[in-house]
Amino acid sequence: MTQQPAHPSLPVSDEVGRLYDRYTDLGSATLGENLHFGYWDSPDSTAPLNEAADRLTDLMTVRLRIGPGSRVLDLGCGTGAPGCRIAQRTGADVTGISVSHKQVQLANELAASLNLRDRVRFERADAMNPPYADGSFDAVIALESIIHMPDRAQVLSHVAGCCGPADGWS
Ligand SMILES: C[S@@+](CC[C@H](N)C(=O)[O-])C[C@H]1O[C@@H](n2cnc3c(N)ncnc32)[C@H](O)[C@@H]1O
Repeated sequence: MTQQPAHPSLPVSDEVGRLYDRYTDLGSATLGENLHFGYWDSPDSTAPLNEAADRLTDLMTVRLRIGPGSRVLDLGCGTGAPGCRIAQRTGADVTGISVSHKQVQLANELAASLNLRDRVRFERADAMNPPYADGSFDAVIALESIIHMPDRAQVLSHVAGCCGPADGWS
């Protein structure tokens, strides 16, 4: 059944997924592997976008205290570059979700090409209703994805549950 927006100006997850199915190749060709903004650490930095984007991923990884064995949910995973980077650099176990079938396919191909399939998986799922039991993850990262979600309070309350009540939010 076609999803209806809660309000005409709010995004609809299936439509967002179809948009990314269509435009992911274009985005990857122009922006590179990451589909989020960068972090430049000084005003005169000449770092290219992809390097600055990786820096933002690394900064968030440190802030979330992700380490070996951490169970990480990447909410709105794009084509998998941030999730794979986190897994490679920390030894964490990463699950990424996207509403785009095409992105999920590309992300799993990337994980396979990096020999990460035992610790990294990408699934087609809607962050508005994630299919994970409470306490499934230790940390959740969302890089430039929550902007697409029609009810942020709903998403954040699911995220808090996924991370479990004790030590979920970092
Ligand atoms: C701008 S891209 C960012 C991708 C990735 N975080 C990165 O930095 O490369 C936005 C991502 O959010 C995902 N997204 C948007 N709405 C979503 C939803 N309701 N549930 C899950 N993913 C969603 C899109 O499919 C896309 O992967």
